[in-house]
Amino acid sequence: MSDKVKELISKCLQAREMAYCPYSRFPVAAAILTADGAIITGCNVENASYGLTVCAERTAIQRAVVEGYRQFTAIAVTCDIKDRFVGPCGACRQVLMEFGSDWIVYLTKPDGSYKETSLLELLPLAFSPADLARN
Ligand code: THU
Repeated sequence: MSDKVKELISKCLQAREMAYCPYSRFPVAAAILTADGAIITGCNVENASYGLTVCAERTAIQRAVVEGYRQFTAIAVTCDIKDRFVGPCGACRQVLMEFGSDWIVYLTKPDGSYKETSLLELLPLAFSPADLARN
């Protein structure tokens, strides 16, 4: 594992401690690696009006964009499930796709072990910004 991937996984696990999930009690965290090596984290932020909950992956993307980043190479995601690797929800896959299909995705267990996959594998035949231009 490269040092950058180690750092990405470690920051992702740390961000899970920040999850605001009083309703589901299901903490989730994400850490995004930008093209220039910065790491931006996110956690789920729930709301008493349940549908307003924002997933960890989207919290991270929004933070990254506000910080001026639009080029990304990888994302790590984690939750409390220990016995299998869990992927981002469909909505989050689509939101990641907005910023390119070329993402490595690290599905990370609480012990730091991970399965490496890609956004293309998680969201085949995706709708993307390029489709709008082809009309
Ligand atoms: N959640 C995420 O943060 N990311 C996902 O990809 C799936 C679900 C959150 C939303 C909610 O706070 C909790 O997990 C249970 O659905």
